[in-house]
Amino acid sequence: MRKVLRTFFHYLEAAFDPVFEGAWNPVRQLGSLTFFQYWVVAITGIYIYIFFDTTVDGAYESVEWMTGQWYLAGLMRSLHRYASDAMVALTMLHLLREFAYGRFRGARWFAWFTGVPLIWFLFFSGVSGYWLVWDQLAQYVAIGSMEWLDWLGIFGKTIANNFLKPGAMTDRFFTLLVFIHIFVPLFLLFIMWFHVMRLKQPRINPPRGLAWGSLAALIVLSLIFPATSHDKADLSTMTPVLNFDWFFLPAYPLFDAIGPGPMWGAAIGLTLLISLAPVIPRFHRPPAALVTLDKCNGCSRCAADCPFDAVEMKPRSDGAKFDQEAVVIENRCVACGICVGACPVSTPFRQDEELVTGIDIVDPTLKMLRIQTDGAMKAAREQSRAMGENAICVAVFGCANGVGAGALKARAQERGIQAAIAEISMPCTGMLPPSFIDYALSRGEMDGVMVTGCGENACFYRFGQFWMEDRINQQRDPHLRKRVRRERLALVWAAPTEVNKTADAMEQFVERLGALEKEKEGA
Ligand code: HEM
Ligand code: SF4
Ligand code: SF4
Repeated sequence: MRKVLRTFFHYLEAAFDPVFEGAWNPVRQLGSLTFFQYWVVAITGIYIYIFFDTTVDGAYESVEWMTGQWYLAGLMRSLHRYASDAMVALTMLHLLREFAYGRFRGARWFAWFTGVPLIWFLFFSGVSGYWLVWDQLAQYVAIGSMEWLDWLGIFGKTIANNFLKPGAMTDRFFTLLVFIHIFVPLFLLFIMWFHVMRLKQPRINPPRGLAWGSLAALIVLSLIFPATSHDKADLSTMTPVLNFDWFFLPAYPLFDAIGPGPMWGAAIGLTLLISLAPVIPRFHRPPAALVTLDKCNGCSRCAADCPFDAVEMKPRSDGAKFDQEAVVIENRCVACGICVGACPVSTPFRQDEELVTGIDIVDPTLKMLRIQTDGAMKAAREQSRAMGENAICVAVFGCANGVGAGALKARAQERGIQAAIAEISMPCTGMLPPSFIDYALSRGEMDGVMVTGCGENACFYRFGQFWMEDRINQQRDPHLRKRVRRERLALVWAAPTEVNKTADAMEQFVERLGALEKEKEGA
């Protein structure tokens, strides 16, 4: 099931790519867009509260008055409703995407687990909002909710009866509902903060253009289909036809169909199922990164680059002249290797056979990466000799969550691209110390280097892609040395479904390298 979902999201993201470049792709901004919709709901909510009459008799009329003022209060009311609906849709997509990509286990359990109450609080916020309109839909939702609660038997007497006779709804009860509708969303905000608390630099704000674009879309929707009410609530009757909100209220018709017991069973069962997803089936955490103290100079680059705050800098414990040392918090480490790429000691140029670095993962270690690189480059050179003098040699450093170096090589061969490809794989391209690019190019071992990883702005390990770009552009240490000719380097970000996109890039790159070789011969 996860595989199907994952493929669905890869295609969905690719479908948005031609219109929304890179960071603007909304499918890669679901969490931050949900945050943005929250602010829209909060601001419009404050505005309409100014005109809202909190008494049972006055509430409906005050909402009707707002609806009549279509250009301001009415617009605010519609925005309030549609941004809330958008929150539900975005949250569900966000949940499915994190699930599809497997970003909910291991160190990520905290974000997942704290996401579950968000669903409930979002539901309570929306439902309590529907009550306040005090129209026929509110009446239906109120009676349904009370019957649902009554089944638990915790209130002594049945509270649904409060809604069954005319005049039963009191101003006091109504004020309580207003209070609930203000405080539940505030609590929701608190849990939203808690949800991203453990993530380093969480993206809680979408790119500005995307945020304003989504707001503009909601404004257009609100003007074309303004939110309206049903007739005023009348506890002596019930309208047979309701104009339904399928984002917030699908549980109610289901409740009518299956009754309170099975409904509680389904709600609790589903909540448990989602909550336990990080541990069932049992997750085997990959071994955490290890620090070799006598190679660590306490520079703290690994701590700065780790996307999961799994490295802490602590006072030196071995008497060495440095102030600090890196310490890995094992249960936060996802073994992405990004810290290995950040460590200044991680360089393949060292003669030292063991190639021990300051911080390393278990599979592959830095040493294994160099062995892999040496072996793949040797094989590619042999292949290029067999292909003829002018065959281009390219080293491809690929991650495990993108197209992958192996798949790219196979597609390049299918297409008859005239290049000998050295394929080197690692968990995340952020693990690759930039000195490896230098290593492959500086001795003329390879004609070019291609680094390929997950789709743009969709790094499985959050920051690997960004750090790699920053290191190459000399904006982050350890950076790629100036002497490395950038025209011999290509970066390609593509999802596993985009093998052809990567092969196209390889074709163009090989052409460019061929032209550079000709230029060199001519000089
Ligand atoms: C009000 C609803 C929600 C909001 C506003 C929200 C927002 C966010 C944001 C801003 C991030 C950080 C994204 C990044 O920096 O890359 C995030 C991450 C995450 N969210 Fe949510 N979220 C919501 C609901 C949920 C739900 C219902 C789940 C699942 C049960 C969930 C699971 C996750 C996970 C697992 C991550 C971590 C992703 C990673 O480590 O790469 N979220 N969320
Ligand atoms: S392997 Fe990844 S998660 Fe673990 S310490 Fe290094 S950067 Fe952090
Ligand atoms: S990057 Fe390397 S040298 Fe710097 S603190 Fe981390 S382990 Fe030590």
